[in-house]
Amino acid sequence: MNISYDEAAGIFRLDAGGMTYVLRVTDEEGFPGHLYFGKRVGEDDISYLARTEEMPWLPSGNVRDRCSFLDSFPQEYPGNGVGDFRSPAVCVTDEKGQTGVQPLYVSHQIEQGKKTLPGLPSTFGTQKDSMTLSLLLADRETGLELTLCYTVFEGIPAVVRSVRAHNRGEKTIAIRRLMSCSLDMDVQDLRLLTLNGTWGREKHKQILPVGIGTQQVSSIRGISSHQAHPFLGLMAEHAGQESGEVYGFNLIYSGNFLAQTERDQFDRVRVQLGIHPKDFCWELAPGESFQSPEAVLVYSAEGIDGMTHAFHELFRNHLLRSPWLYRERPVLINNWEATFFDFDLEKLLTIARRAAKEGIELLVMDDGWFGRRKDDNSSLGDWTVNEEKLPGGIARLSEELAKLNMKLGIWFEPEMVSPDSDLYRAHPDWAFSFDGRTPCRARNQYVLDLTRREVRDAVFDQIAAVLDSGEVAYVKWDMNRPLTDVASHAEGGQSGALFHRFVLGTYELQERLITRYPELLLENCSSGGGRFDAGMLYYSPQIWTSDNTDAIERLAIQEGTAMLYPMSTMGAHISVSPSQAVGRLVPMATRGHVALAGTFGYELDINHLPEEDAALISGQIALYHRYGDLVREGDYHRLASWQDNRLFDCYEVISKDKQLALVTFVQVMGEANVKSRRIRIPHLSPDARYRVTVVDPAVREHDQSGNFIGSDEIACMRSILDKPITGRTLAEAGILMPKLRGDFRSVLIEFRQEG
Ligand code: GLA
Repeated sequence: MNISYDEAAGIFRLDAGGMTYVLRVTDEEGFPGHLYFGKRVGEDDISYLARTEEMPWLPSGNVRDRCSFLDSFPQEYPGNGVGDFRSPAVCVTDEKGQTGVQPLYVSHQIEQGKKTLPGLPSTFGTQKDSMTLSLLLADRETGLELTLCYTVFEGIPAVVRSVRAHNRGEKTIAIRRLMSCSLDMDVQDLRLLTLNGTWGREKHKQILPVGIGTQQVSSIRGISSHQAHPFLGLMAEHAGQESGEVYGFNLIYSGNFLAQTERDQFDRVRVQLGIHPKDFCWELAPGESFQSPEAVLVYSAEGIDGMTHAFHELFRNHLLRSPWLYRERPVLINNWEATFFDFDLEKLLTIARRAAKEGIELLVMDDGWFGRRKDDNSSLGDWTVNEEKLPGGIARLSEELAKLNMKLGIWFEPEMVSPDSDLYRAHPDWAFSFDGRTPCRARNQYVLDLTRREVRDAVFDQIAAVLDSGEVAYVKWDMNRPLTDVASHAEGGQSGALFHRFVLGTYELQERLITRYPELLLENCSSGGGRFDAGMLYYSPQIWTSDNTDAIERLAIQEGTAMLYPMSTMGAHISVSPSQAVGRLVPMATRGHVALAGTFGYELDINHLPEEDAALISGQIALYHRYGDLVREGDYHRLASWQDNRLFDCYEVISKDKQLALVTFVQVMGEANVKSRRIRIPHLSPDARYRVTVVDPAVREHDQSGNFIGSDEIACMRSILDKPITGRTLAEAGILMPKLRGDFRSVLIEFRQEG
């Protein structure tokens, strides 16, 4: 890892983990230009890549074609309205409503370490493992100063960028667009990889050619959303899962965002990520500053797999702060899909008693324990225990659970208020609403104006009172509607700033929660994965991946999520079959195998499970304890995707020391008259010998579908099961997967190094 400056050539060079990023400031005027982002290159002067020796040349040599220059020069942070017709990185209006802005180089600083961003989630690093370049740009006429920050981390092929705007002038400036990063890439024939979906179908991958003009994914819902994700990947021609060049861009932010490509007239691609400019307007009085969220730019020469690895390493080592990151998480049981709102103390304890016997360690009491909430039409905002349902409150419940050796978790939805609540009746102005308009309801609820300190305080005090009233080990923080009617009734609440200030308010509340309760295990959630993003991971080590717990639907959702985020962050639970989301029948064994890919738990009432399913639970928990460390700490590699092949899914997790690997194979659709499938098992130690085992024999015998993996099904593996086999052979020759009969069948295969 290094950042260097070649003063003679005006070149800044960032190197880390086999990646190089180069930018150059032109001699005349100081235009910050982008030269290169990709695989490590030699320490040569590559300023020729800016093509300033070609027509239309630099404007100093060719004043008459200044406009053509600006419209084709690869800019590091383009301004607005003065000649570049591609998308600007920054837009402002001054007091007269004028919109011209052109940030030019002033100075720079290179330092060891990485500063965190106040009030925003951000990466962190030490003096030893990170270095930061701060590039100061200024627009002389408006007095706007921009500090572009670039950080690299030891061993990780990534650059983390952000921008701080400061008003050095004497008049107020309104910022209307401030992208966290802008990058002019000189790579042709790129394909755009995005993760899109809806409720219950989050983060499905999509790959399309990058066409001329703009293509974007975005959210204006106030959250990162189920529909789009603040990420885009760019895949070079022929790049795939394991090979070829892939560039990944991820925004560490949980609100409105824009992630955009713009292929220009010369087939170069401008990539931008940042807060969505729609309805955004942040007024900067003289002397004031505004900080953008951070964007992560990853380079991979090993396809999507290399990009995934870089994101996982970066997030695990430089974003996730929780003490729970590498700790074994308790196996939990959540009562939501078991009871919905219809529960009381006795019902919860009935679930808990059976769960405790099976080895489940934590009961999560989901929605419905507070105010007068009996369905989703009331009481959000009234965070006091409903003693009719729970006599003795949290204290009694946690004591009863402690007798069973179980801990308690509680659900909250702190950002919301029900129109039918004491809070709303007392403070109708605490909900967002436009003057004179009845706000739009979603799930019969309104959004609290968390931009106001008194609202945040009131919510926090209520939550703290509940947590202090008993032993609470875990909180599920939910958020179940998008933002509409975003207008504040507080003095001076500038409307263009509210979406962002709402996100800052949420971040501040979560920061307060984990500061006051440092041992609390916090799980974020937003109707499933509606806010599963890098921003929220700064506060919680795990996030509920989707409300859809059908194991087969989960394969695509978990593939998209794990493409960016470590497996230890994905909430994955076993629920009933037929699943409530799609009505599909999936064997209990398969449900267990798929849930092992994340933080493990149950979303059902064991007392109502068919006995043959319930009988598998203790074995599943044993598997979680056996492979939990591997899943949390190991490296994840996707070997096949049923989104591509429509037949089967396969992924590998391998320990850092390569002693142990676990491969999950799910046959989504069975086929007649096929041979066993050959799968290569990459990334093991080439010369080490591995003992290959089909895991989970207890499960095969009790599989409720009756299609258990019989001896004939593993016969095809017998040749390697009997004797250890080298990592090199496993990577090239591979293994033959057991032939499974039927749909939705799965198998786990362990590779353990010998000697
Ligand atoms: C959301 C969550 C669910 C559950 C319900 C409760 O939909 O995603 O897991 O907590 O809210 O209302």
